[in-house]
Amino acid sequence: MSDSITFSVKNAAKNTTFSHTTSDCIVVFYFEKAKLSPEARHLDAASQGELKKILQLESATGKAEECFLLRAPSGIKAHRILLVGAGDPDQLDARALKKLIFALGAQLKAISGTHVHLCLDALVNKQIPATWLAQHSAQWLATQNYEFKTYKSDAHDNRKKTTARKHPTRYTFLTAKNSAELPHAVRIGASIAAGMRLTRDLGNTPGNDCHPSYLAAQARKLANRFPKLTCKIIDEKEMRTIGAGAFCAVAQGSKQSGKLILLHYKGSQKRSDSPYTFVGKGITFDTGGISIKPSQSMEEMKYDMCGAAAVLGLLQIVNELALPINVTGVIAAAENMPSGEATRPGDIVTTLSGKTVEILNTDAEGRLVLCDALTYVERFHPKIVVDIATLTGACVVALGHHHTGMLSNHQPLADQLLASGLQCTDWAWQLPLTEEYTKQLDNTVADLSNIGGRTGGTITAGAFLAEFTKNYKWAHLDIAGTAWLASGAKQGATGRPVPLLANYLIGEAKLTR
Ligand code: BES
Ligand code: MN
Ligand code: ZN
Repeated sequence: MSDSITFSVKNAAKNTTFSHTTSDCIVVFYFEKAKLSPEARHLDAASQGELKKILQLESATGKAEECFLLRAPSGIKAHRILLVGAGDPDQLDARALKKLIFALGAQLKAISGTHVHLCLDALVNKQIPATWLAQHSAQWLATQNYEFKTYKSDAHDNRKKTTARKHPTRYTFLTAKNSAELPHAVRIGASIAAGMRLTRDLGNTPGNDCHPSYLAAQARKLANRFPKLTCKIIDEKEMRTIGAGAFCAVAQGSKQSGKLILLHYKGSQKRSDSPYTFVGKGITFDTGGISIKPSQSMEEMKYDMCGAAAVLGLLQIVNELALPINVTGVIAAAENMPSGEATRPGDIVTTLSGKTVEILNTDAEGRLVLCDALTYVERFHPKIVVDIATLTGACVVALGHHHTGMLSNHQPLADQLLASGLQCTDWAWQLPLTEEYTKQLDNTVADLSNIGGRTGGTITAGAFLAEFTKNYKWAHLDIAGTAWLASGAKQGATGRPVPLLANYLIGEAKLTR
């Protein structure tokens, strides 16, 4: 579902630009003690003091997110002015700016107009470069009105569509900064938003439609859109032949055939450059298998493929931005079902690595599909590997819905991912990965158990994966708490951690340019 929102940057070196621009709404800021930004001052002068008058009349304080909408201001071509309080300009950090952009975006929903101009220059400070602000404003404005309407019959009725209220679809950033970097930054933000939209749409699609073959079809579709992207699908039968016993132990209970989906993006000058590799958990529905889950909230387990969806969203971004690096995306897609062919608790399987695993709980299936995918990617000689998985309920208990859980065997990679998350407010938090946790996986009959007891569940899951990632630099992102929200206004798939991963790769691409 793409409601297409477009962004552009317009130079506003002349002060008269602000009052002379035809617009449905022009957005300007003011600060504590009702101090107007330079752009707001120009508008105030052109309208003979209308802006100051309204701030006085309403006893405006200038605290962040305070908003006033002026309709049909005199002396100004724009139909409306949205005055937005921004608090103390020195306190504006990434978190505060995110709140501010979402707050003004919510106000813009109330206008019946499509073209909005934003004057963001006044928000730039020592911590916040203009390019960061342009990129993230575009990203946040484009994601703000996301709705998942695929299954609403009204949304497909064209007569009803035309009567729908208008809302902003075109944003122009007015800036005095005459730099080629800003249009580029805006393009990056819009592309990240589009990638997140793909990730959310896939996450929100229910298990009856979104099964492993559907994910494979989506991957093929993506590869058909971009010349530098190729797709290969390995089906369950072939996985069995090559010895991926852990992957097949999960897939075999379902009528849907499991798939290992491979996407290769060749953006580097050197085709043989080792790829940044991303492995997504793609359990299209997780019943728990024979260790079946309680029925309460089981419907949420349609989101158990959000790691896979993030890989697809990320690859769309990498292709749209034509990053000069190689990137490989891998999706371990299977449905975890109980049936006459399903794995029993106590079954022992041989993984692709040769290690044997006693499956003590068939609901700890994510690590089983992932361990074989993680062994498989060794053949690509990856530069780094990041896996993304809705892996443990314990992660939701530990970190809630705000931070993604992270474990890694290479601290510089961990540090880069943490920094990337901080920068774009798609936060991650590292958990310790030490031998004590690996010990919890000891098994008397097989090399490993697939569960590590009641305590430290997120870490023992990571420690299990770490047994299969010793030959490369690796990080694991547990997105069980961050990939979707079960209730509230923003219910459904969130698109996380696509911003974190995209920003990491964009940073890497700049280094190699
Ligand atoms: N997909 C679930 C993890 C999950 C559960 C994410 C609830 C978000 C909300 C995963 O496959 C799972 O079932 N994990 C088990 C592991 C346990 C059996 C060791 C869990 O977390 O309970
Ligand atoms: Mn499970
Ligand atoms: Zn699962």
